[in-house]
Amino acid sequence: MLKGKNIVLGVSGGIAAYKACELTSRLKKLNANVDVIMTKSAAEFVTPLTFQSLSLNQVVTDMFDKPKYWEIEHISLAKKADIVVIAPATANVIGKLANGIADDMLTTTVMASKAIKLIAPAMNTNMYENPVVQKNIETLKQLGYVFVEPGEGRLACGDIGKGKLAEPEVIELAIKELLLPVRDLEGKTVLVTAGPTVEHLDPVRFITNHSTGKMGFAVAERAARRGAKVVLIAGPTNLTAPQGVERVDVQSALEMKEAVMLHMKEADIIIKSAAVADYRPAEISSEKIKKSEEELTIKLEKNPDILFELGKVKGDRVLIGFAMETQNLIENAKAKVQKKNLDFIVANDLRTEGAGFAGDTNVVKIIDRQGSIEEVPLMKKSELADIVLDRALSVCNR
Ligand code: PMT
Repeated sequence: MLKGKNIVLGVSGGIAAYKACELTSRLKKLNANVDVIMTKSAAEFVTPLTFQSLSLNQVVTDMFDKPKYWEIEHISLAKKADIVVIAPATANVIGKLANGIADDMLTTTVMASKAIKLIAPAMNTNMYENPVVQKNIETLKQLGYVFVEPGEGRLACGDIGKGKLAEPEVIELAIKELLLPVRDLEGKTVLVTAGPTVEHLDPVRFITNHSTGKMGFAVAERAARRGAKVVLIAGPTNLTAPQGVERVDVQSALEMKEAVMLHMKEADIIIKSAAVADYRPAEISSEKIKKSEEELTIKLEKNPDILFELGKVKGDRVLIGFAMETQNLIENAKAKVQKKNLDFIVANDLRTEGAGFAGDTNVVKIIDRQGSIEEVPLMKKSELADIVLDRALSVCNR
């Protein structure tokens, strides 16, 4: 599958270095050529001989090793690489790359290479969450580096949290996607809404919900990776827009409606994963509402149902809704498919573990116009995004 592909695998110093051995062996089984570069500290955890035996190539550990090729080694590997993968990537290596420091074979090779760069971080949770590390990751993302998120769980140091190196099969999948990208959405425009809306009451307070935007951003990211032109209309979130996506920021349901109606004209597929407030305060006070009476009544008025409006003018477009329910999931979701004239709806239940707001996973039922139901088990939001896009594409091609 990866025959003829040159993968430079950088291994930096952490206990997760042992997982890079399995990654090497998996990539070799796919017939890739793997050249391993180890930092000095990585070589304290796993011997270069292990990687040499698995990759069937010389392993480079230091800039001043005796040259094994006539060319300057870091330049030759940098030029030869189709992809440079760093797994595990320590906070130190990430920091160096984000700040232009090239003081060993691994960092010089990365900086001298124009190949795709894939980084799989692994470190203690507190280090991973440290704002400096997060800023460095953000800097690299902006520069086009692709990241495989670390997993959560018990770390080697005993702490529980995020920071475990992603499993070798997950990194392998990311490599395959980058080297052999599926571009089945090329030529299509996908409009995605994500996140909550915020309905202001006064300059200090607002009504909102728990949506973080993760579901919609995952859809936007996968659609862009699969070659679509993507417009992402997002309520307030902390997330960074995926690469190559046109992002439109909005606050309220009214603003979201305006942006959606403007961009829907060019869309082939519309996916409404945003959690839109059904009501907004009837009046927005220009000053902070003062505490006086024992009770305060806030009058709310109905927001437009954006999806319902889209359903009226959808034409040939594929129109997909999401439904968030706490009871009668199927019944309520089926009613929404008909009422809003959808091709299908992705229904999640707040009471199901791993489903809905904020987490990285979801558990859903996909219900179409005919009422047939596909049960989608617990999986990452990015995986679900692909399933939703597969179905959208099959409706497009019908
Ligand atoms: O963002 P995350 O933290 O990752 O969480 C993901 C999610 C839970 C927000 C997502 O999976 C989800 O379920 N989104 C839809 C939430 C919702 O508003 O459901 P609903 O059943 O109230 O609305 C049904 C559909 O109508 C939705 O597509 C919604 O975008 C749309 N709608 C609703 C009200 C309104 N005024 N206008 C709309 O367009």
